[in-house]
Formats: sequence, C-alpha cells, structure tokens
Amino acid sequence: MSDNNAQIYIDAHRTVAEISPLLFGGFVEHMGRCVYEGIYDPQSPLADERGLRTDVLDALRAQNYTTIRYPGGNFLSGYNWLDGVGPKEQRPRRRELAWQSIETNQFGTNEFIEFCRAIHAQPMLAVNMGTGTIQQAADLVEYCNAPTGTYWSDLRASHGYQAPHNVKYWCVGNEMDGPWQIGHLEADAYGRKALEAAKMMKWHDPSIQTVLCGSSNDKMPTYPEWDRTALEIAWEHIDYHSIHYYAGNWQDDTASYLALAVDLEEYVDTVAATLRYAKAKRRSKHDVYLSWDEWQVWYKDRSGRGGWTEAPHLSEEEYNLEDALVVAQWLNVFLRKSDVLKIACVAQIVNIISWLQTRTDGLLKQTSYYPFWLVSTMARGQALDLAVKSPTYETAKYGDVPMLDVSASHNPEDNSSALFIVNRSQTETLNTEVVWQSASPATVKEAWQLAGSDPKAVNTFDAPHNITAQPLKGVTIQDGKLALQLPPLSFTAVSFSA
Ligand code: AHR
Repeated sequence: MSDNNAQIYIDAHRTVAEISPLLFGGFVEHMGRCVYEGIYDPQSPLADERGLRTDVLDALRAQNYTTIRYPGGNFLSGYNWLDGVGPKEQRPRRRELAWQSIETNQFGTNEFIEFCRAIHAQPMLAVNMGTGTIQQAADLVEYCNAPTGTYWSDLRASHGYQAPHNVKYWCVGNEMDGPWQIGHLEADAYGRKALEAAKMMKWHDPSIQTVLCGSSNDKMPTYPEWDRTALEIAWEHIDYHSIHYYAGNWQDDTASYLALAVDLEEYVDTVAATLRYAKAKRRSKHDVYLSWDEWQVWYKDRSGRGGWTEAPHLSEEEYNLEDALVVAQWLNVFLRKSDVLKIACVAQIVNIISWLQTRTDGLLKQTSYYPFWLVSTMARGQALDLAVKSPTYETAKYGDVPMLDVSASHNPEDNSSALFIVNRSQTETLNTEVVWQSASPATVKEAWQLAGSDPKAVNTFDAPHNITAQPLKGVTIQDGKLALQLPPLSFTAVSFSA
C-alpha cells in the first residue's frame, strides 16, 4: 500500500447497534440570544404568529433535529418554572444569575413545547436541582403530563393546554458537579437528591425517562468518581447518564485538534465502564445509557456575562473548516459508540455556541452546520463496525493517528446505507477504496463533500457560501467497489440504495 492509499471494508452484518434517532438532538438555553432573537423574536418581520422565527424554524427542520433539551444549562439551576407559564404580561422580569442577564420570561415551558412541535422534535425538559426542590420537580411533571382534574394539570389547562404535553425525557439537574453551578452539590448529596426527585417524577408518570448529571467534562478533578458515586445511588430510578464536552484548538495545533475523536472515544469508554461497574455493584438488571446532552466546539468566544441586559451577545462562536471537521468526527463517534450512546444534544442550536447565527434580516449557516445536516439526514438503521486501513500522521497530543476517521450505517428495512469519512490530513489526498464484504449496494444515492485548503476558512454574512457541502459528481460503484479521491481537510458523505 503506497502512502496515499486507504481502504474501508464494510460488512452490513458486522453491526455495533441500532442508531438511536435521539443522537441528533439539540440544546436550547436561556442564555444570550438563543431563545430571544434566536428561536423567539416576535418583533421580527420573519416571525410567525407565535413569535417563532420562520427562517430559524426552516433551518432547524432541515437539520432534522429529533429532540431538544431545555431550559438550561447553568440557567436551569436558578430557574423557577412557574415564572415562565401563564399570561405573559404577568410573568416576572428577573435578574438571571448564571449569565448576569435580564430574563423577561416571555418564553417558557408551553412556548417551548410549541416550538418543539413546530420542528417535529421531542421535548427534553430539565428540572432545577440547584435552588429547586424535589417537590417543584414533581410539580412540573404533573403540570406537563397529568390529565386534567388536579391542581397542576388544571393550571396547565387554564394556560390554554388542555391535553397533556406527554414529555418523555427529563434531565434531573445540570452540571451539579461544577462549583460554578448555582446550588452545586457534592456527588453523594446530588445522587440522593436526584434519586428522590426521579422517584417522585416517575410516580407521577412511570413512562418518563430520567437523565442523571454526570461530570461536566473529563478534566473535572472529581471525574469519574462523581459519576460512580451518583450512579450507584440513583441507578434504579434513572435511565441515562449525561456527559458534556466542549472542544477547542486552544494551542493552535491543528494536527492534534483534528484527531479529537481519540479523546472523545476515550471519554465515552471510561464513562461506559463506570456504568458497567455501577450496574454490577448494584446487582441490577436495569440498564443506564449515555446522554451526551451538551457537545460543541467552544473556545473562541467564551463571554458569559450579560451586564444585566436582555438577550446579550454572548459566546457567539465563529466556526471554521477545522471546527466543521471536528464536528464531523464527533458524529462519527456517535455512530461508532451507538451501543451505549443513545441521546446527544448539540449545545446550542442558534446564536449561542452555534453554527446558526441570526441577524434581524437573515440567517448565517456556518461551516459546521453542514456535517450535522448530512449525518442527521443520512444515518439510519444500524451503525456498522468497519475495518479501516489508513496512512497515519503524527500529532503532538496523540502520537500517530489514522488520517481517515470513518463511520457507516445500514438500514435493514430498505437495505439503504451511508458512509461518512473525514480526511484529517492537511496535505494528503487519499485514494480510498471502499470494499463491501457483504453484498454491495447497487447505486450511489447522494454524495456530498465539504472541503477547503485553509483550516481557518469561515462563512460570513458577506461570504456565506465559502465553506459549504457540495454535491460530488462521478461517484459510482464499479465491480462492487467504490473509488474515492479524498482531498485533505475534507468530510465526505455518501448514501447508497440497494
Ligand atoms: O452551553 C453553555 C453552558 O455550558 C451550559 O449552560 C452549561 O451546562 C455548560 O457549562
């Protein structure tokens, strides 16, 4: 094999697990301009009758989001959900401590549910474990999910929502291991509070699924002991365990940054092992899966103080080509780890730490919008365990790393499949042969590529199409094989039909 040749072997029978549709979720927090001026902007000529921005709704629908987590984030731990329901003119205007902003409460739980329905995504609500009590958490479940006839469900009906919202996914707090969190707790205290909250919440509605707070990231001094402790305590009443991770090219070391999947996989493996340990220790038959409910690139704009203003411009990160290639790898990791990873929410879906940016007169799709769009619309069915032969390159952080980072899916229902390939090399075009060890697909349905020569290239309102996914011409299967020329710094997505 010459240095620039690579091979990808696909066997549709060699599966990892079913790809959970909830891996293509997003996160909305009352932070900066995510809610106000992002999804909700009643003053905008682009808003519908509910005040939702139609251009943002269209872009979110195109991205095929399956679930949205709300309302925070650090915001959650000081939030009283009662502030955000009922007649809007009576809702309190408050100082919000997590982001030092003014919260008008014009958007709350019911508006969020309507927003989710508008983009065909499942709502995933979070209950406050900072200043909030287990009673308030249980009351919110009753408010949302109980049939009318009791105090909280009748309150919902009086607010215009007769039918229950039937919210299935519930996060029990947010990043409670972090000293920055309002009402931060030690692992043992959090585990006990989460257990008691989840018990009450499930007694109201046994069909709900709960998410425990894991470590805020793998650099926390309490990681992974926090996870073990909280899991062992709350195990039987929770269904998912959260992980969070924000990535960045802090050292301006592009070679290492482009190998981030190495870190991400190690993180998943460690927490997955902790899940197995806790299950064994509890002698339990119950399973808990991972919810990666905050993930994104976030390092260029970390501003988090709103100066007590409404909808301040905070953390409006600009995304370049290398960030998009990191996002593409992250999605590959989701597929490769889909045996344990069942939920993931990109943080966040508009304006704050987001590949979508609004202005009063329009919307910008940044570079990393495209890999999410491609994978969330193409990956269906089973994730496959591939065999990949790829040249390697040297990184300061991880040693030698394969130039190619690859994932694939196969849907047994219609025999369709998809392949996702990142070429991490900054210099090498790879002649890549895709070889099927099971029956090869008959045709290429779609082929797209995002590529460029400058890892720092960005899209702007003035040059919005600088880095976008382009259709790839001339991609055909011949003699049961596919030959691809993968340029450096590229992401290629190909879907096939039987
Ligand atoms: O998404 C921004 C913030 O990052 C969230 O509020 C918090 O959970 C995390 O630290």
